[in-house]
Formats: sequence, structure tokens, C-alpha cells
Amino acid sequence: MLDRRKFIQAAAMAATATATNLKPLLAQSSQTRSPNDMIHLALIGAGIQGQHDTEIALEVPGVKLVAAADCYDGRLTHCKELWGQDVFTTRDYREILARTDVDAVLIATPDHWHKTAAVDAMKAGKDVYLEKPMIHVYPDGPEIIETARSTNRILQVGSQRVSSVIYAKAKELLASGIIGKLNMVSAYWDRNSSLGAWNYSVPLDASTETCDWPRFLGSAPKIPWNAERFFQWRKWKDYGSGVAGDLFVHLFSGTHFITGAHGPTRAMATGAIRYWKDGRDADDVLLALFDYPEGFNLSLHVNFVDGGEESEGFLFTGSEGLMTIGGNTVSVTRTPPETEPGYTVSTFAEAMQKEYIEQYEKKYPPKHFSGPLPENVQKFTAPEGYSDSYDHFHNFFDSVRTRKPVVEDPTFGFRAAGAALLSNLSVERGEVVHWNPETMKLERS
Ligand SMILES: NC(=O)c1ccc[n+]([C@@H]2O[C@H](COP(=O)([O-])OP(=O)(O)OC[C@H]3O[C@@H](n4cnc5c(N)ncnc54)[C@H](O)[C@@H]3O)[C@@H](O)[C@H]2O)c1
Repeated sequence: MLDRRKFIQAAAMAATATATNLKPLLAQSSQTRSPNDMIHLALIGAGIQGQHDTEIALEVPGVKLVAAADCYDGRLTHCKELWGQDVFTTRDYREILARTDVDAVLIATPDHWHKTAAVDAMKAGKDVYLEKPMIHVYPDGPEIIETARSTNRILQVGSQRVSSVIYAKAKELLASGIIGKLNMVSAYWDRNSSLGAWNYSVPLDASTETCDWPRFLGSAPKIPWNAERFFQWRKWKDYGSGVAGDLFVHLFSGTHFITGAHGPTRAMATGAIRYWKDGRDADDVLLALFDYPEGFNLSLHVNFVDGGEESEGFLFTGSEGLMTIGGNTVSVTRTPPETEPGYTVSTFAEAMQKEYIEQYEKKYPPKHFSGPLPENVQKFTAPEGYSDSYDHFHNFFDSVRTRKPVVEDPTFGFRAAGAALLSNLSVERGEVVHWNPETMKLERS
């Protein structure tokens, strides 16, 4: 329910929008917008990532923040401090969806709100940038996909690596055959720090006065106020999706984008709370293996790091070489398969060893390398300061303007998040779980 004061405020803002001749989205929805049209953006979930995303989104020319919704008043105050007092703020995102001057929403709530907020937004005629993981539970996926289709809204999922020039280069290198046939992908996201373990700060004024606890809980079990659950929600499965939904999902979107695969058919995982025994129920260490129908295996882990705070990377092993992604660099080392059989003669009588080697060297004369080094190493590094998040937002707003398909649609988002959540399912059930990446359905175990 809108309270009266906020309703009048919303109505006044809508009237102002009409007066300044902003074209309402619904009138333009099926048309191509002029590249000069200002896109009016609203933020739903103005926490750490929501504010960070908004900073980047506003760097894209022709985008303006008009409204923000959050369940903690301090974050709404900070939105006005960052982006101006005329930014409309509310605890109830439905007030934002009711505004005719909002074209698109950026949803960065905890995972358990992703589906409801995205579906509500699309039904209200808004295009959506939805943070990863797209889903919290499996039924979220089909509902988001179907709503995007039936409402004809743009929905892009926020795994920014899908827009990365580094990942695009990796995709191109793999497709060129430079490492031969792909055999295995190993990827990891290790972290040691307390903040890496989601121990985010609780503001000193956190209370049921400043935080809308019932709204935060949403569809989650109704429990008494708990500031840690509100501000450190990733630690509990009722709101987050563990390290699988938080981190594996990035590794899946990277793997799927680079290989073109739709997802695994089998998953097996193991994990535990090894260190952060602080009342959380989400594992801090996770190790998982997946079979891909394209004929490669994927191995993923989240572990503590050997030194340093955080490290993330990929190793693609092919029949003729290796491709690694680390930081802003992708590199390839070619190791073409041997063309000679080699020999194992040391257990034979000495005379036999001698004769065997003489004959072998006649057949395969020893090669003495001379001349320039072969071009067996390729390295591509993104320019200094490169931001894949900027490119991801740029691509999103381009689709909002042109109605061209997004780079990461809900089907891609479901395939990445659905695959990631197989790890949690396998750990919970203590068994191998089966998934059909084409129909995006769990199969018999
Ligand atoms: N793409 C990336 O690299 C990346 C990085 C970090 C986080 N994320 C994603 O962003 C999302 C948010 O993460 P975060 O770290 O910012 O969490 P956060 O706790 O800092 O922020 C979430 C905010 O959502 C608000 N909220 C909760 N329910 C709401 C509702 N019904 N309506 C409006 N606001 C509501 C909370 O009050 C909170 O301020 C998560 O889904 C996370 O996976 C993505």
C-alpha cells in the first residue's frame, strides 16, 4: 500500500514528467527509441552492488537516475547524497513501478527478491537489468523467461563478464581451434578475507525503525528482527544462494559464453563450513564437478587463498594447448600433440637398447632447433582501467533503445544460475544430480 504522502509525491512527480514532455515508455515500447532519448533509470535494492552498478550505469551517456527503493533508510539518504535531492526514494518499489517516467529498473536486491521484483517490473512495463544470480529457486527461471516473453520487455542479467573484451577474445581463440579440442575447464574463485566471507558492516542505527524488516523478508520465513541477516544475508540460504549463486554463477556465465555450451548434464559437489562457524548455514568451501554434453568436464571450487585476499581464474585444457584467463588477461600456450612414439628401452639388455635407439633415430632424426622462436604463445590484455561492467550496461541501454536482443537474456541467465545451484542440490542430497540444459529442467537422480 502506498501511504498517502508518498502517493501524492509520486503523482506529483509523474505529472512533472508529463509536463516536461518525457515520452512514456509504454508508448515507445515496441518502437526504436532515438539514441538521444534520455533513459530514466530507477534502482531497486540500493546496497553495495546497487550503488556501485548505478555509478557505472550513469557513466553511459543518456542515462539518468530518477528513483531508488531500498529497505534501509540510510541507503535511501545516501542515494540522494550521491545523485541529488530530486531522486525519488521509497521503501516500496511498487511506487517506482507505478511511475510513468521510469523506463528501466536496475534490480540489486538479495537473491530471494530477484524473481518477484523482476516480474513485477516487467508487468509494469519496465525494462530490467537484473543482478546475478538470476534465480534463487528453480521455479523462478521459467517465470522470469515467460514474463519477459509475454510482456515483450528487455531483461538483461548482470553477469558483466558476458560483455567483457577479454572473454570475447577467449571465445574467439577457442573457436579458432588454437588449443585443439576442449577437454576440461577448471575455474576457481578463492578468497581469504572476512569481507570475502560476507561479514559486511551493520550500520550503527540498524533497527526496525530504520529497516523495513517485513519487506526485506518477503517470501522468506517470518522470523524476528535480525540485523546480521538483513545486512549479511548471503550467509543464509533463505535469502542467498551460497558461494554457488554468488561466485560459481560468474564462472558458469564465463564458461557458457566462451564455449557456447548451454550447461552441464550431471553435477556432483561437496562442501562445508570449514572456517566461518558464525551461525551461517551457507558453506564457505565448495568443490564441484560437471559433465558437459559437448565432451568436456568442468571443475569449480571456492576455497581459501594461498596468500592474498582473492584470486579468480580459468584454465581451458585442449588437445593442443592451454588457455588461461586471469585478471584482465587471456593467454594461450600451444602444446601440439607429439608426432613421434618415443621409446622406453632402459629395461632391455644394453646391446638391445643401443640397437633400438640407433634404429629409432634413423626413423625419427633428432631435431636441433634453430631460428626464431615459434609463435606458440598468445597473450591479450585489456587496456588499463578497462571495465566490463561499463560495457555490460552500455549493451543493456543499447538494447533498451533499439529493442535489439540483449547480450545476456533470461534463458542464458537461467542456464548459468540453474547450473550453479546444482552444486547446492548435490551437497544437500549427497548425490549426483542431473539437469537437462536444453529444457532447463532437473532430471531423475
Ligand atoms: N555482478 C556482480 O559482480 C555482483 C557483485 C556483487 C553483488 N551482486 C549481486 O547484487 C545483489 C545485491 O548484492 P549486495 O552486495 O549489493 O547486497 P546488499 O545487502 O549490500 O544490498 C541489497 C539491498 O537490497 C535491499 N532490499 C532488500 N529487499 C528489498 C526489496 N524488497 N525492495 C528494495 N530493496 C530491497 C536491502 O535493503 C539492501 O540495501 C545480489 O543479488 C548479488 O548477487 C552482483
